[in-house]
Amino acid sequence: MPNRHARRTIAPMPRAAILATLGVALLALPFVLYAGAFGLAGLATDLSGETRFYTTPLPTALIFAHMTTGAVATLLAPFQLIERIRTRRPRVHRALGYVTLAAAAITGIAGLLYIALKGTIGGPLMSAGFALYGALLLIAAANTVYHALDKNRAAHRVWALRLTVLALGSFLYRLHYWVWYAATGGAGSTPDFTGPFDLFNFAGFYLPYLVILELVLRTERT
Ligand code: HEM
Repeated sequence: MPNRHARRTIAPMPRAAILATLGVALLALPFVLYAGAFGLAGLATDLSGETRFYTTPLPTALIFAHMTTGAVATLLAPFQLIERIRTRRPRVHRALGYVTLAAAAITGIAGLLYIALKGTIGGPLMSAGFALYGALLLIAAANTVYHALDKNRAAHRVWALRLTVLALGSFLYRLHYWVWYAATGGAGSTPDFTGPFDLFNFAGFYLPYLVILELVLRTERT
């Protein structure tokens, strides 16, 4: 029986946009390794005295679990965009899809619980920016899997692209700081995260990229 979404066409994402995303994913590899190794080390060993993230058991477990699964989500979400694997190895795409979505869900939930328990180093505004980030990641992950199961490929694709942008967001947060410090020496950024650049970056690592994605998708539709 034909599925009810079969008549919707799926325009190919502009190749340049996919290549740019995969390029950012490659740049993110060292951060992925750092986050994964730090997360596993925090879960497996006693890092008290070595990092401010090692505190009481629950927040400690949450933050290190979130780093570990965050590394998995950042690695796999862009990988799922590779068309050759999607079309030639659909089972691989499906299996890795579930791993990506589980990793994104744990990352988002653990991150949100950590914020609720401990807040963030930058205070309430940073906590709000990161909490919105976590909520959007969860919404994107839930919609990606829902539309995959519903066999609505057009909607699945759009949500998967949003999820990928969000999964790369954590790396983009750091990248913004590296580029900004290299270019300006850290103008507008303070150690207690109260400078204009810090305030911008509380949400500037994901919101502008989501807007750009929506503009690309709108161009595609028209
Ligand atoms: C998507 C993949 C993600 C990765 C790879 C990741 C990785 C990390 C890492 C490595 C740290 C430790 C800080 C550092 O050493 O730089 C960290 C901190 C943190 N992350 Fe994530 N993260 C991800 C997503 C998220 C999400 C979705 C949230 C929101 C719920 C979140 C909330 C936090 C918070 C609140 C901290 C502590 C901030 C602080 O007080 O310094 N992260 N993350």
